Amino acid sequence: MEYSNKIKTIESLVSEIGFIGESLLSINDLSNDQIFGLFELARSIEPWNRSKIDLLPGKVMSTLFFQPSTRTRMSFETAMHRLGGSVISEANPMVTSSAAKEESLADMMKVVSKYTNIIVIRHPNDVEAREGATYSDVPVINGGFGDWEHPTQALLDLYTLWRTHNRIEGLNVTIASADLIAARTGHSMAYGLARLGANVTLASPKTKSTPESVMDKLDTENSNVKEVYDLNQDQFNELISDMDLVYLPGCSAPKGPESEAFKKLMDDYFVRFDTLDQAYKDTGRIVRITHTLPRRSGEMDQKIDTSIHQQYFEAIAYSVSIRMALVLSLMGL
Ligand code: CP
Repeated sequence: MEYSNKIKTIESLVSEIGFIGESLLSINDLSNDQIFGLFELARSIEPWNRSKIDLLPGKVMSTLFFQPSTRTRMSFETAMHRLGGSVISEANPMVTSSAAKEESLADMMKVVSKYTNIIVIRHPNDVEAREGATYSDVPVINGGFGDWEHPTQALLDLYTLWRTHNRIEGLNVTIASADLIAARTGHSMAYGLARLGANVTLASPKTKSTPESVMDKLDTENSNVKEVYDLNQDQFNELISDMDLVYLPGCSAPKGPESEAFKKLMDDYFVRFDTLDQAYKDTGRIVRITHTLPRRSGEMDQKIDTSIHQQYFEAIAYSVSIRMALVLSLMGL
């Protein structure tokens, strides 16, 4: 297709999504049609995810990261540069911005939105962050809010699934962690998978299971979601043998006296390479593993990295395309 026709395709996809000027705080801010529209848009701009397409010249993104990040911040910044825009970043605002002088998040959002055209923010307190977003004059993207949601991580993982399987409906997915309370990526992914018709199993210790507020919402979606608790490592590996995808939102052991007990819980969710290999030999099924990263030692056999089961580094490659698509859909051309 000629370049000018490709631009027309991109323009019409952005317009069909119908999200210009909005904010993305939860994956549930998007309808299913809008999610699939973003997938189509992302696929159409994939040819430029390692080069540049000047669709947003003169536009500025601000990234405000009140918690550490490698992937989310850098992939949004890469996406904006690839679209021909520019970025100003606060990677440690509690030290380098006036937040260190007790400026409220509300004031910060008001001010920053006067400079820039879109804001990506990560914040440890979801209530404060959601409230703060209402003070922005420009679209705000949730780059990870507390334990609540991380919708763009879910979008990129859903997009990767769609690109590798050509569908999401009917796929069997386990979301597993020793702590699904704090798993903000797990919450967003469970919503997305359930809404798009996957069969979802949430595996965790009973004491660290998915929050009731998330389960209640999943139930109202008429979705195919079940919870399994307190599996030992053999039972967990048996469960994942039948999956299309195992989704690991990760977790970190608390510091202090609870640390050792928590590490033992994490052992139960260890993904063995041999389990995946045996399932493939027995049935031809490729059980894919994705981890939202960063991962800790003791979560999976690193032999998976160089096997057909690895999906986490594939997802990184897709993350720029889907974030380019999201930024375009919020800003328009
Ligand atoms: N997956 C994810 O959110 O990674 P970062 O914390 O590095 O952004």
